[in-house]
Amino acid sequence: MSESAKLSFKGQDYEFPVITGTENESAIDIAKLRASSGLITLDPGYKNTGATKSAITFLDGEEGILRYRGYRIEDLAEKSNFLEVSYLLIYGELPTQSQYETFSKEITHHTLVHEDIKKILEGFPSNAHPMGVLSSLICALTAFYPDSLNPNRNKEEINLSIVRLIAKMPTFAAWAYKNEMGHPVNYPDNSLDYCSNFLKMMFALPAEKYDVDPVVSSALDKLLILHADHEQNCSTSTVRIVGSSQASIYASISAGINALWGPLHGGANQSVIEMLEAIKADGGDAKKYLDKAKDKNDPFRLMGFGHRVYKNFDPRAKIIKKAADDVLEKLGVNDPVLEIAKELEHAALNDQYFIDRQLYPNVDFYSGIIYRALGIPTDMFTVMFALGRLPGWIAQWKEMRENGEPIGRPRQVYTGANERDYVSMNKR
Ligand code: SDX
Repeated sequence: MSESAKLSFKGQDYEFPVITGTENESAIDIAKLRASSGLITLDPGYKNTGATKSAITFLDGEEGILRYRGYRIEDLAEKSNFLEVSYLLIYGELPTQSQYETFSKEITHHTLVHEDIKKILEGFPSNAHPMGVLSSLICALTAFYPDSLNPNRNKEEINLSIVRLIAKMPTFAAWAYKNEMGHPVNYPDNSLDYCSNFLKMMFALPAEKYDVDPVVSSALDKLLILHADHEQNCSTSTVRIVGSSQASIYASISAGINALWGPLHGGANQSVIEMLEAIKADGGDAKKYLDKAKDKNDPFRLMGFGHRVYKNFDPRAKIIKKAADDVLEKLGVNDPVLEIAKELEHAALNDQYFIDRQLYPNVDFYSGIIYRALGIPTDMFTVMFALGRLPGWIAQWKEMRENGEPIGRPRQVYTGANERDYVSMNKR
């Protein structure tokens, strides 16, 4: 029996259907709200508003559950690999052996980028933040593949764009880093797996032998899996709304990279390390910074803590915290900020302010510590997040397009001046 919700307004009753998803989440379908009552809803930040129905990722913020296409994140992080998870998110099922081999071969085949990309790259000063370089190079793909501007492409043409994005993003990311370092770029080495190829493009230097450490490559692969999708977060919603105007997939992903850049979103992993470094430089007094985070008059926030959806532990943070211990031990790295992070976490989890607001460590709290141990520089941390989130953005863009969703165009409540006549300048 279908459910419904009633609304009473100015003595009139209105009834709206309630839809229920496969995990028993319910939503009031207000598609006819304005036409029937003249009302709209108002929900800054969309904290209570569903933008779509999606079959890709399920989160339960109260229970700390995250599943990609029904598979638990804990299982995928332990048993799968990033390309297999990318296939799962984008095409909906785990690939067979032959599907996986075809997919990874196609990606390997497309890792090279047009030489003219280097001319764009060379236009950036060495102090350019790699996220700005990455979003620019991704959007530049519209120039090298103008067919992507056609909104009516068939599945094969869209799949080629998907392969190009997954294949070329690591190359762009590594080149953005090389531009910052003033080093010559490295071309892809197609004899290597996805993460090893990226690490070699990042860190290999001319005239020096570079061997990828399998511990580093494996840790990176796990981190990319953990970042791969997270339903309708800020950057994914950006990709969807840009894509809803029938802009190309490259322009949509470029927009998502820019949304992720913000310190309240993916940029938090860079801010966490900067925060931990500041606490260390200031004598390592975690409690002092906890008090700053609680002080309404102080703009300081405990970066890496809190989440719009998780009101319990972010399951990714638990996995990353354990991986941080494992990776640092295997690499023989002793990072003092790891101890500060653990002290800060312990203090926050026992502090009434954080308990009352259900603030727990999120995916960004420990990831920077691992990236640093892997040799990734701080301003590349959010680029790593973008590399991981790419298949999720692609899957969500593809679902939005395949479902024929309308162009996103929210309404507003106007609070400005009422009608008034123009007054010429000499009379003001
Ligand atoms: C990501 O959406 C996703 O899924 C995102 C993500 C993904 O995979 O895509 O999970 C990745 O973006 C993780 C979040 C990374 N950001 C940070 O770590 C930045 C620090 N955290 C916050 O600024 C904040 O917690 C947000 C932005 C993450 C969530 O903010 P909300 O949901 O808008 O919550 P809010 O700002 O309304 O806070 C509720 C209360 C407020 O206090 P009161 O006004 O009720 O007294 O909690 C307080 C806030 O002041 N609060 C914090 C805090 N986070 C929230 N206080 C101190 N430190 C914090 N980190």
